[in-house]
Amino acid sequence: MKTRLYRLQMEDPHSWQEALADAARTLRAGGLVAFPTETVYGLGANALDPQAVRRIFAAKGRPQDNPLIIHVAEREWVFDLAEVTPAATALMQAFWPGPLTLVLPHLPAVPLEVTAGLQSVAVRMPSHPVGRAMIAAAGLPVAAPSANRSGRPSPTCAEHVMEDLNGLVEVVLDGGPAGVGLESTVVDCTLPKPRLLRPGEVTPQDLERVVGPVDVDPRVLEVLEGAGPVASPGMKYRHYAPDGDVTLYEGDKAALPAVLLQAATAAEAAGRVVALLASDETLAVYGGPGVRIPLGSRGDLTGMAGRLFEALRQCDRLGAEVVLIEGTEPHGLGLAITNRLRRAAGGRIVRL
Ligand code: TXA
Ligand code: MG
Repeated sequence: MKTRLYRLQMEDPHSWQEALADAARTLRAGGLVAFPTETVYGLGANALDPQAVRRIFAAKGRPQDNPLIIHVAEREWVFDLAEVTPAATALMQAFWPGPLTLVLPHLPAVPLEVTAGLQSVAVRMPSHPVGRAMIAAAGLPVAAPSANRSGRPSPTCAEHVMEDLNGLVEVVLDGGPAGVGLESTVVDCTLPKPRLLRPGEVTPQDLERVVGPVDVDPRVLEVLEGAGPVASPGMKYRHYAPDGDVTLYEGDKAALPAVLLQAATAAEAAGRVVALLASDETLAVYGGPGVRIPLGSRGDLTGMAGRLFEALRQCDRLGAEVVLIEGTEPHGLGLAITNRLRRAAGGRIVRL
């Protein structure tokens, strides 16, 4: 299949017509369209067409038991898909359109392929102008996971999408870099007390200001291996992972440069290609070997979130066999960054 890539002029929405028309036609015909959202790029299909949804799983190589998020152009569309609880209504008012996904009891219209057999469905209304215009033009709810091959870091620009899915999807809409750079916050609203399943730009503190106390699923910070039911099937897979062996360093920053020096020197002596992902502050004093990939200043979590997945992909382009990463504090947006890093490390964490 030849993928049709459209580069959109972000400052001129009138020029998007042809691309949006192609995307809408493709979605209505059961095809796949990758599109920008304010979090990461999504891989979309008609959420009400089981065969189209199955193609998403095939293109990504995604496990069948991992359900998809349905994206809507208007709040009202949710009422055809899910039972909207009072907490969900309040959260939709406060954060939509935006990077928040709500898990709700699903209605019969939602195909089994989207929910992976769960009683619930995840829904969100993205705020990215291209994403929203595309869903509105198609006139149907769009099921979309992140537009990466399963297990790889999520795509934060159209180049990442092409790296993973060129030739596997009909259309890619290039709307420039995605905004946040990390996937949406996921909150389970089927429970009496809302429960955070995946942290994102909307923090637990933001949620609590609107709906009162929320639970944080322990798996947000623990990477648990092995069997057992999980609230969100996506939690149980290794994710965001570069090909090399990743180690995450958390805790005392003052100790970090010396510890990195030792680890990088040992790995290089063993003949392995080493990459270091660390803050500008750490890299400024680090004097050792390895390829340095700056994550930005420690104080700028927004910048770090936006750079993280590109940095992880860079490791693969360099052929890094050993990847050493400086962690951050799990507060505010740092909770989402820590969640992604711990998953990328598959639990290999050194506490300083
Ligand atoms: O920002 C985002 O959410 C991006 C953009 C494209 O919208 N999408 C995204 O989709 O990250 P995906 O499929 O990569 O992640 C969806 C997460 C998975 O962890 C999945 O297990 C969880 O949401 N999920 C989906 N439906 C669920 C449900 N009914 N109950 C619990 N978790 C669910
Ligand atoms: Mg994903």
